[in-house]
Amino acid sequence: PRKLILDVDTGTDDAVAITLAALHPELELIAVTTVNGNVEIRYCTDNSLRTLDFIGRGDIPVYEGCPKPLVRADFPIPRAVKKDGGMHVNVLPLPDPVSRKQDKGAVEFLIETFRNATEEIVLVPVGPLTNIAAAIAADPDFVKNVPEVVIMGGAHYTGNITASAEFNIWADPEAAAVVFAAGFRKITLVPLDATFQALVSGAEAKALEDLGTNAGIAASRFIAQRIKGYDSTQPMKTLGSAPVHDAVCVAYLVRPDLLETKFVNVQIETQGIHTVGRTVFDVNKRGDAAPNCHVAFGANKDIFINMMMDVFKRA
Ligand code: BDR
Ligand code: CA
Repeated sequence: PRKLILDVDTGTDDAVAITLAALHPELELIAVTTVNGNVEIRYCTDNSLRTLDFIGRGDIPVYEGCPKPLVRADFPIPRAVKKDGGMHVNVLPLPDPVSRKQDKGAVEFLIETFRNATEEIVLVPVGPLTNIAAAIAADPDFVKNVPEVVIMGGAHYTGNITASAEFNIWADPEAAAVVFAAGFRKITLVPLDATFQALVSGAEAKALEDLGTNAGIAASRFIAQRIKGYDSTQPMKTLGSAPVHDAVCVAYLVRPDLLETKFVNVQIETQGIHTVGRTVFDVNKRGDAAPNCHVAFGANKDIFINMMMDVFKRA
């Protein structure tokens, strides 16, 4: 099986990504590292523990990471007070966790694990990139110790947290700029342009619930919550459906044909008043900047849904 570490800001789609990575027979989820993002770090950690315990994988360790962006005091627009019923609630609707987070911090864990790895481990950040940038800053060998990075983030056609930026990149633009300029051997970026092509409908969420397994029930609960959130804040072209961004990155590891990618140059805007946090994709090779990232512009919804149905029914 392919080994991976998920770096998350557990939220509802992170929780589905954790569930798929922990239960897919062709994947080995080595650990989960948490970062400040959708919710404050303590809730990201608690929600990750809650999810792993509920699906019977409390054995997978969770390491807590950075509570704040790399250099800024806060997000470009400070977090609004959490209203319940939103897309990402502080506490996921699952039983309280039994497992506890590891004592070691996430950044130290990432540095040590990739330094000592004897087999390939894919690093899959699906939240703001603070932990990854911190590891790069702390260990000059980190970039060359990591064989491959698959990131959920960015957007070309339209943003979500702002008109021009996607949340993960926007939440810590300086960290993202460090990561994309660091020279990792292979980066694949899964932006909104791809994840919005793999929408999950209410009926499909119901089918997951009808599997009757904890994984199916949990995934269904998270997706139903997302559909409610999207219908009220960012209605998709097909109402009653929602993207499950982070889980698409995990599914790609098993089925690379899930995504259609282009190798282009990616740069991060860190200064723009209206554009801070935007990923600038040189899709027409106008600039002279060399391509540095495989960016997904297409995603196959059926491969994604069928994989979740298949894996969660056996859980
Ligand atoms: C990203 O931001 C969060 O809301 C989701 O967990 C996902 O990682 C989508 O913009
Ligand atoms: Ca996330």
